[in-house]
Amino acid sequence: MKFVVTGGAGFIGSYLVKQLIKDRYDVVVIDSLYRGKLDNISSVIDDVTFHKIDIRDFDGLKKLLKGADGVFHEAALTDVQESFTRQDEYHQVNVVGTENVFRIAKEFGLKVVYASSSSVYGNPKSIPIEESADRNPINPYGRTKLEDEFLAEKYKDGVSIIGLRYFNVYGIGQTGSYAGVITKFIERLREKEPPIIFGDGSQVRDFVFVEDVAKANIAAMKSDVKNGFFNVGTGLTTSIQKLAQVLIEFSGLSVKPMHEEPLEGDVQSSQADTTLSKNLLGWQYQTSLNDGLRRFFPL
Ligand SMILES: NC(=O)c1ccc[n+]([C@@H]2O[C@H](COP(=O)([O-])OP(=O)(O)OC[C@H]3O[C@@H](n4cnc5c(N)ncnc54)[C@H](O)[C@@H]3O)[C@@H](O)[C@H]2O)c1
Repeated sequence: MKFVVTGGAGFIGSYLVKQLIKDRYDVVVIDSLYRGKLDNISSVIDDVTFHKIDIRDFDGLKKLLKGADGVFHEAALTDVQESFTRQDEYHQVNVVGTENVFRIAKEFGLKVVYASSSSVYGNPKSIPIEESADRNPINPYGRTKLEDEFLAEKYKDGVSIIGLRYFNVYGIGQTGSYAGVITKFIERLREKEPPIIFGDGSQVRDFVFVEDVAKANIAAMKSDVKNGFFNVGTGLTTSIQKLAQVLIEFSGLSVKPMHEEPLEGDVQSSQADTTLSKNLLGWQYQTSLNDGLRRFFPL
């Protein structure tokens, strides 16, 4: 079977590509290389077909999706803070680009599994968050992901579209200022500097390991489920304060976290209810946070 992965040179996409190759599928990788890097898929570069194109290019995308059995859509602009200042671009890539994928998939009858986000929930009324919870994103990035969900609902007649609401995905390979909190803390510790916590550190997150997220995508593609949105998290929470402590301990450094002002658009609590993904997709996380974090060490 042949699958296309958009954003396949990015952080999550590259792990998905590697898992698909391991599972012996034919893989076509699409990426504008705006933020992704071919280095991320260097170990499988001879086994995949790579195309540098932009998902806003409808005709180019259509040519590449023809003949595939399904598409994993990971390409997006992904930085919450940046989304405040570049709202139009975020809309063009994340919403118009995603609609291109949905439209073409509908025309060709391809199943789509795409990256939604826990950011569609905004600040939830209670945790753990069930998929049926209110969707009130609190930043422009999250609003693009909610618009994608509306599109998935609009396109669902006659095409199978599954949106995976990733919680906080972590692992080796997240890059630069766009990386998540774990990578940022690790980068500071590598420089022998204390992690910087925005706010008091009491905010909690559901951290899920990137290899488990790749497997969730494949489980969704292989499942009989046709449409819907599913949480992809562990169902467990860790505070940012605790995360900093654990990473400091693993590093062996004697530093204390620093605190700065809370970030605009940062949610206070995030925790997945994982019942639906367990029951309907047959997927659950396998890697504990401790085991996942250990992979970063020695620094
Ligand atoms: N990392 C997380 O914790 C997290 C959480 C929730 C949802 N997501 C979603 O998962 C997906 C993958 O995120 P990631 O963390 O791997 O980010 P990433 O930035 O590493 O990957 C995104 C990829 O999309 C590519 N891309 C960007 N614009 C493009 C365009 N116009 N055309 C083609 N390719 C383009 C980039 O070059 C990059 O390789 C995204 O849709 C993101 O919104 C990520």
